[in-house]
Amino acid sequence: MELVRYLIEPRRWTTLPGRWEGVFGRRAPLAVEIGFGNGEFLVQAARQHPDWDLLGFELSLTCIAKAASRLAREGLANVRLARVDGRFALRELFPDRSLTQVYVHFPCPWPKARHARRRLITPDFARTLAAVLEIGGGFELNTDAQWYAYQAREALEAEGRFLVRGPWALEGKGPGTRYERKWLGQGRKIFRVWAELRLPGSVERIAEGDMPHARVNVEVSREALLSLAGLKESWPGGAFMIKEVFLSPGGERALARAFSTDEGFEQHYLIALEKGWGGWLVKLDGAAVPFRTPAVKRSVAAVAAALEGKGP
Ligand SMILES: C[S@@+](CC[C@H](N)C(=O)[O-])C[C@H]1O[C@@H](n2cnc3c(N)ncnc32)[C@H](O)[C@@H]1O
Repeated sequence: MELVRYLIEPRRWTTLPGRWEGVFGRRAPLAVEIGFGNGEFLVQAARQHPDWDLLGFELSLTCIAKAASRLAREGLANVRLARVDGRFALRELFPDRSLTQVYVHFPCPWPKARHARRRLITPDFARTLAAVLEIGGGFELNTDAQWYAYQAREALEAEGRFLVRGPWALEGKGPGTRYERKWLGQGRKIFRVWAELRLPGSVERIAEGDMPHARVNVEVSREALLSLAGLKESWPGGAFMIKEVFLSPGGERALARAFSTDEGFEQHYLIALEKGWGGWLVKLDGAAVPFRTPAVKRSVAAVAAALEGKGP
């Protein structure tokens, strides 16, 4: 029940970036927390700023469920949660200069060089932040990894639009989260980096609301449908692959399980193939809707093209 109240599904929106006034039913300053864990900070921030609306982005469904219970117990109405990669969400779901504050508390630093691309605070992140924050808007990072704090500072400074402070070691209370308690309990220090946007930036967005679909005006055999498994394409910055195909008993409907990546943003989804009057319709299936990125659109078009090539 709590999940229904707090969880939003931006993948299903027909318009991106989001219309946040519609989501919250009011126009208010917007703040974001990425990787909110069990939601302690969101609860505290929502209580402290009843005049703000807050968005939390998490990858873990367990964390989302815990945070939703916590929010419901407090009866808070000015928070929504989404299971979306925060890096992607920040860039694709918010118009330029729409955010008052962005928080990241104790992101995994991914210390190994081969995992570096998983890090949250990067030059790309700083570019996005400079576009979506309002002038005077703030970014706060808390981390136990001093080297990561310095790297974040470097990325923010290199963007050339922020006044950056820190990292400094916190003396008093931090964001009050589980990981803060964990690291303090192990005797570690907490480092904070803070940045205020001074000059507006811009960023290129890749997701659109339009649902890609295609018509295939040829007869399609069961073999042609099944042979879509393994179809793949890659190009600089993106790729997709059809992993497997499921056929209905009558052969008039198929589902292709697809994987795509756009600049490292990975999605799993289903492409539906349905036989209708005079041909087949190829479209995204409603059960696992992805964001409509270039790779997703290309996969739908490629499935249709492959079927047309295989027609009699
Ligand atoms: C180390 S935990 C910290 C949780 C919480 N902020 C705290 O301080 O207790 C990092 C959290 O970030 C989430 N996370 C990691 N990468 C993410 C991403 N790209 N977008 C959203 N959440 C992410 C993880 O699922 C995890 O819950």
